[in-house]
Amino acid sequence: MSTIDQATYRQVLGHFPTGVTVIAGMDGDEPVGLAVGSFFSLSLDPALVGFCVDRSSGSWARMVDSGSFSVNILGADQEDVCRVFATSGEDKFDGIGWKPAESGSPLIDGVLAWIDCAVEDVHAGGDHEIVVGRVLGLDVANEGSPLVFFRGGYANLK
Ligand SMILES: Cc1cc2nc3c(=O)[nH]c(=O)nc-3n(C[C@H](O)[C@H](O)[C@H](O)COP(=O)(O)O)c2cc1C
Repeated sequence: MSTIDQATYRQVLGHFPTGVTVIAGMDGDEPVGLAVGSFFSLSLDPALVGFCVDRSSGSWARMVDSGSFSVNILGADQEDVCRVFATSGEDKFDGIGWKPAESGSPLIDGVLAWIDCAVEDVHAGGDHEIVVGRVLGLDVANEGSPLVFFRGGYANLK
């Protein structure tokens, strides 16, 4: 049992700024995804990346069996996209333009960069899982400033 107050944990950890990604994948022929700030680069050789996902994530549960996912790095002008994918619900891709990566995972229009991945490993991490992805392909799609999340809001990186 933790003796750390959860509100304090959130408040203190909120002082660590993160970029924002949408982790996306396919559930059959339906695209699904969620906003993720815990994305990290892991290894150059072999090329691996990762992120942490809440065990209760419905979107992750829907895409994991496909064996692949995409990482979509959001730009500063994609706060609205972030809000859609940070809210649980059906049809998050309604009105969102995308095309399939080689793995079939969705690449969202207008992102700064994307990484197409195969699920390499899933490790336990408390109430989250630590997902490791093997990089299948990646590219920079647009030049621009990133979307940054800091202290519960969106910050500007000039
Ligand atoms: C900036 C930001 C970063 C987030 N980072 C994560 C994360 O790293 N892991 C996670 O599981 N949820 C994260 N979330 C919360 C999920 O996006 C949110 O719980 C979402 O509703 C999950 O979608 P689902 O219920 O369709 O699975 C983040 C939300 C925001 C706004």
